[in-house]
Parts: sequence; C-alpha cells; structure tokens
Amino acid sequence: MIQIRELSHHFKLGKKDQKVILPVLKDITMEVGKGEIVSVVGKSGSGKSTLLNLISGFIRPTEGDIWIDGVQVSELSEAKFADFRLKHIGFIFQSFQLIPSMTAYQNIELPLILKGEDEKKRQEKVIRLMEKVGLGDFKDHYPSELSGGQQQRVSIARALVLEPTLILADEPTGSLDSETEAEILEIIQKLNRELGITFLIITHDEEVAQTGHRTISIKDGRVMKGGAAI
Ligand SMILES: Nc1ncnc2c1ncn2[C@@H]1O[C@H](COP(=O)(O)OP(=O)(O)O)[C@@H](O)[C@H]1O
Ligand SMILES: [Mg+2]
Repeated sequence: MIQIRELSHHFKLGKKDQKVILPVLKDITMEVGKGEIVSVVGKSGSGKSTLLNLISGFIRPTEGDIWIDGVQVSELSEAKFADFRLKHIGFIFQSFQLIPSMTAYQNIELPLILKGEDEKKRQEKVIRLMEKVGLGDFKDHYPSELSGGQQQRVSIARALVLEPTLILADEPTGSLDSETEAEILEIIQKLNRELGITFLIITHDEEVAQTGHRTISIKDGRVMKGGAAI
C-alpha cells in the first residue's frame, strides 16, 4: 500500500542570507502492506508528523520516493496529488478538526458534497457510517455538544466517507482519556477487519502502538532496525 525509498527531508529555517538547514528525516525506507495496521512510534520531535505530511503530500521530500497503491505520488503535481488524496486517503487528527458550525451529520457529509454526490446517496452513506461508529443518536449535535470520544468518532466517519483504502492517523487518541482511547482503538481495529482499510498510526503511546500489527520506530529521523521500543 505504501512504499518509501531512501526518503530524506530537511527544513530550511531563517532569512535568505542566513539559512539554517534542519535535517529531520534521514534515509527512510519502509513499507506498509495492504490491510495492515502499522504504528509509527518515536519521541516527540523525532519526525513522525513530518513523515505523515510527506506521505500525504502536504510537504514534498528533499530526497527519495513514495508510492501509494502503486502510484509514485512523490512525482505528482500539486493538483494531481490533491485529487489522489481525496480518492485514496482518509485523515484522523489528534485535534479532530471538525467544523464547529456544522452538526456531526454535516461534518461527515461535507466531503460528499465537495465530491458532488447526490443527496440521497449522501444520506445513505452518512447514516450508515454514523451507525458504524456508534453515533446513530447524535446526528444533529454540534461538535461542542459532543464528548472528545464522540468528536473523534465523527472525524473517523468523515475520514471514511469517500471510501479510502488508506487512513493516516496522527496521534488519534492523544486528546482522549484512556477509556475513550480504548474505544477508538477498537473502532480502528473493527474498520480494518471489516473493511480491509490500511492504517498508518502515529503515536508516542505504547498502548496505541500495540493496536497495530507491526511497529516502526523512528529515532532522530531514522528508522530503527528491528522495531525497537520507544
Ligand atoms: N514546517 C516546519 N518547519 C521547520 N521545522 C519543522 C517543521 N515541521 C516540523 N519541524 C521540525 O522537525 C522536527 C520533527 O517534527 P515532527 O515531525 O513534528 O516530530 P514528531 O511528530 O515526531 O513530534 C522538529 O524538530 C520540528 O521542530
Ligand atoms: Mg507529531
């Protein structure tokens, strides 16, 4: 599903004449198979979110290549990457990123509206997904009227609504208490089992990492051999 070859990334900081180069990722080679849940672990600042942003195409690698589902995405133009992202990748963020002025239903429906899906189909899909993530009774609630766990369920349903094959999650339970965390991790496992969705989950939490089939450890921007612990 994801293949990464000799990927390196640095950020350039500072003004024109006094640029500082900050190397963040160094020679990353890794793979994620179809149907896997893979956890990426590492200390804060080790480069996990940067890796996710590179896979998502929000930033472009300094060196190396990335393939998703057989497509060399690192070569795609901005516009083609945006289109690819919409069709293939769902996102879950630590901070949920819901639109506060829209109800749970409307938040989940939004990607379908942007895609131009007709109303009947939209309704079918949103209702089915809300039930799947246990939000059947919360259609008309605004994000501020939902608990953290419920908000994350909304964002999971929104990530699923365009039927992606891959979901990228950056610290998906980082804002939740441990009981709610367990519920969200269960949903992720269920979606993987029932729909075959591949998950790449970034975390610095050992318990979250164990949800995955496999762990990749990053230390100082490099992949540690043998998936050593955090
Ligand atoms: N847009 C950016 N510009 C400059 N430096 C950045 C940027 N994004 C991240 N960094 C730096 O890259 C390093 C890795 O950050 P990040 O990938 O967010 O780590 P993690 O998610 O593992 O905590 C940090 O030193 C961070 O300050
Ligand atoms: Mg991060």
